[in-house]
Amino acid sequence: MEVKKAFKILGIIALGLLLVAYNLNSPEQDNSHTHESGSTDGHSHYSNHLNTDGHKLIFPSRTPDRIITNLTAVPESSFAVNWRTNQQIELGVLQVTLATDGPEFIMDGVRTIDATTESFENKNRNEPLVKANFHSVLVKGLKANTTYVYRVGNGDTESDKLWSEWFQFTTARDASSEEPFSFIYFGDAQNHVKSMWSRVIRNSYKKFPEVDFMLHAGDLIESRDANLEWGEWFYAGSFIHATVPSMMTPGNHEYVKKPSPALSTLWRPQFTLPKNGPSEILSETSYVIDYQNLKMISVDAPALMIEDIDASIQVKWLDSVLANNTKKWTAITLHYPIFSTKTNRDNKELRDMLKPLIDKYKVDLVLQGHDHTYARGEVSNNTSGETITDDAGTIYAVSVSGPKMYESKDGKWMERRGEYTQLFQIITIGKDSLSYEAYTPIGNLYDAFDLIKKDGKKKLVNRVPETSQRFKKDFIKE
Ligand SMILES: [Fe+2]
Repeated sequence: MEVKKAFKILGIIALGLLLVAYNLNSPEQDNSHTHESGSTDGHSHYSNHLNTDGHKLIFPSRTPDRIITNLTAVPESSFAVNWRTNQQIELGVLQVTLATDGPEFIMDGVRTIDATTESFENKNRNEPLVKANFHSVLVKGLKANTTYVYRVGNGDTESDKLWSEWFQFTTARDASSEEPFSFIYFGDAQNHVKSMWSRVIRNSYKKFPEVDFMLHAGDLIESRDANLEWGEWFYAGSFIHATVPSMMTPGNHEYVKKPSPALSTLWRPQFTLPKNGPSEILSETSYVIDYQNLKMISVDAPALMIEDIDASIQVKWLDSVLANNTKKWTAITLHYPIFSTKTNRDNKELRDMLKPLIDKYKVDLVLQGHDHTYARGEVSNNTSGETITDDAGTIYAVSVSGPKMYESKDGKWMERRGEYTQLFQIITIGKDSLSYEAYTPIGNLYDAFDLIKKDGKKKLVNRVPETSQRFKKDFIKE
């Protein structure tokens, strides 16, 4: 009898525990949970994100995640790093030193720099509340063309537990160097980023591991404040983001228009981009970077089209940047194409604002996204409209790296066109030449050209492969 009673009591306790466990996982109830430190990490749970993978992508922990290095305005002597932790880590710390052949770099000369830390929380649509601390450090005073190691963490020198691994990073060559350098240009990643963009960024890096930086031409994600989507973007690039510096220009999906125009609340906490643009409102979205003999300008295209933001300020700024440009090569990146490639689209207003400057200052390259198709060609910047073959005009490119695809329209200016093709572009710039190659994720060359700039002349050499252009109708039967 006594044993039976004991079993009954145990049964009631077990049922009680099951109910408690069920309540903890119930979508109606937001629960903070407790970690080994005994303190809560202060985030809520939600049934949609209970799988471990979703949890890891959305929620920070005490160990740094979303680690990224960004190009600064002076990449030969500085670099910027951002990362995220939960709010238990109130002070972020970065350590940096010269890389060595063995582990001896940790013995001597490690610089420790306190981060600027920003508490952040957001709850996007049906996502759970996410509380995080975003940390950033701008490391200055570095030597050009030098390989450093850095790590980020909580500053505890007794334990590696709450630190990232040591990442290796090489600064740009001196600003006057004419040695070739390369960057990879990605059009919109935007949708199914973990599932279908991961292979693009990873294979671009595998093909060109010596790449000096990466450029994202907007719409990195679909929904500007979706923590899961940003988690996927960081997951897809993983250590590449922490090793190869990036620059990004915002797309319309990093903005909302209503109720009032606003950039993703995660843009500035997550990235440290140059603050040398035309105004405070365009800080870290409209900016300029000098990389060796290239001037690379990010134009905040969505801001140009938002009524409440005065477009003329950005246009005037672009005019003055180009007027004072002493670099041999000039590129502009902006999300919206000057010449749209998608059917039924035409960005006339944008073109009217920017093309006169592109022509006046003979910009070499305009790198764009938004239209989820591929096109590349030359447009004369001679105002009479004729194309002079021994003095090339401006090369315009529209590309897409993610899986969302539109149909395109033909254009006289296009040398190569494509649909339904995920691409990345490697651009290599030397003293007198700029070489551009567009590749599919499996490494097939889809488009290529060289620009040769010598003795005051600029020549375009097309190297379009003999393969057929790819069109959606070849893959999707309607
Ligand atoms: Fe877009």
